[in-house]
This record gives sequence, C-alpha cells and structure tokens, in this order.
Amino acid sequence: MRVGILGTGMVGKAVAARLAGLGHEVLVGTRDPAATLAREEPDRYGSPPFRVWQERHAAVKLGSFADAAAHGELLVNATAGEASLDALRLAGEANLAGKVLVDIANALDYSQGMPPRPLVGTADSLGERIQRAFPAARVVKALNTMSAPLMVDPGQLAGGDHTAFVAGDDPDAKALVTGLLTDGFGWRDVIDLGDLSAARATEMLLPVWLRLWGALQVPLFNFKVVR
Ligand SMILES: NC(=O)c1ccc[n+]([C@@H]2O[C@H](COP(=O)([O-])OP(=O)(O)OC[C@H]3O[C@@H](n4cnc5c(N)ncnc54)[C@H](OP(=O)(O)O)[C@@H]3O)[C@@H](O)[C@H]2O)c1
Repeated sequence: MRVGILGTGMVGKAVAARLAGLGHEVLVGTRDPAATLAREEPDRYGSPPFRVWQERHAAVKLGSFADAAAHGELLVNATAGEASLDALRLAGEANLAGKVLVDIANALDYSQGMPPRPLVGTADSLGERIQRAFPAARVVKALNTMSAPLMVDPGQLAGGDHTAFVAGDDPDAKALVTGLLTDGFGWRDVIDLGDLSAARATEMLLPVWLRLWGALQVPLFNFKVVR
C-alpha cells in the first residue's frame, strides 16, 4: 500500500521505518524538504538529523506535506499537535478526501515548561478538530498514548501484553487501522473506544503518561487494561 506520513519527528520516522519494512511504499512529508535534508543538528531527543536517518532507510522517500498526502492511500498525522491543522492545510484538503487518516498527534503546550499542558479542553479533541476541518477525511485516532518505539514494536515490552486504543466515526477505517496494528505492528490488545469523541479520552491520558514518564524516568512503558 502507498502510505503518506506527515511528520519528520520520532513518530513519523518510527512509523515510516516499520511500514517500509513491511513492504509498503512510504513517503514522509515535511514543510520544506530541502531545509529538512539540510539539518545537521540532532533532533530534540538527540537522534541524528533526518538525512542521516534516511540514509539508513533508503526505501523511504521525502517530499512536501502535499506530496505525502497525494502519494498515500493511507495517511498518518505525526505532526506537532499544535501545528497539525496547519500541516494538514499544507497537505491539501483534496489530497485528504476519502482517505483514512491515522491521527497520532497530541496538542500540548510546552510554553510553561514540563510537564506540558493539554491545549484542547475536555469537551473537544484534536482528532475531532481535524475531522471537522477536513470532513471528507476518515480520521482514526490511534497510537497517541505510548512512545514512538512502542507504537510499531509493542513486543519489546511485556511480551506485547499491553493496550492500544482506536477511535473514529468510520467503522471500515477503524477496521483497516486495527488490522495494521495487529497484523502489521504486532499489537495483541486493541480496544475500540467508539466514535471519534473518544479521542478526548485518549488525548486526556497524556497528562498521566507524562507524569509517569517523570516518575519512571524511562519512556518505554504503557497502559494495560486488565479485565
Ligand atoms: N514522540 C513520541 O513518542 C510521541 C508519542 C505519542 C504521540 N506523539 C505525538 O505525535 C506527534 C509527533 O511527535 P514527534 O515527537 O514525532 O514530532 P514533533 O516534534 O512533535 O513534530 C514534528 C513535526 O511537526 C511539524 N511541524 C512543527 N511545527 C509546524 C508548523 N508550524 N507547521 C507545520 N508543521 C509543523 C514538523 O514539520 P517539519 O518536518 O517541517 O519540521 C515535523 O514534521 C506529536 O503530535 C506528538 O504529541 C509523540
């Protein structure tokens, strides 16, 4: 399948590498491809710049947000949550129409320091804002509640015995994403939380996730729903 990934951060790179490894044709989108390739400094997590990463993942192409959105049959939003609507506007509404859009983003405000505060209140969510702004896209909120390496390789923690959530208004889109999570990435416990308003709940898990990160001092942990 052709996949367009919006975002060159650790999420975009992790998902791109995994999907390319599974044989999908992946194009990653950025605001300015030349500027992204010209970066020499490590990213904010100390990882090598995109150019170095791409040399190790030669099958993954880089283009503009619009290139990625036009390329993908399946799209992934892995942009900074506070800028996701801008990034998706750059991607182009027509390029999103009819396509499944996996929204991994969290809108967080780092302006007051750590831990960041959620930018969207309890009566709305970034996922819903994206769906309202681009009604012809088929938004599925998923994978926003764990760190990037775990998203695509849950088996590295607790034998994969932990939980991912999906939410969205389009049952077929959710089934496609759930299949990708289970058959592609190896998730064993994917809970369908219902329509896209459930994105409020998974986005509101972030304050808990961030506090846990502070307490545990490692990002490789996840929620497990026992029942
Ligand atoms: N990091 C994690 O483990 C993790 C876990 C769960 C959820 N998330 C969520 O996943 C998303 C991606 O996280 P990340 O850490 O990989 O990367 P990030 O640093 O949050 O976002 C990087 C991407 O956002 C784009 N961007 C930033 N400002 C922009 C603007 N003003 N206009 C348009 N695009 C803009 C960047 O574009 P350029 O490529 O042009 O620079 C880049 O592609 C975030 O919403 C984050 O909250 C992250």
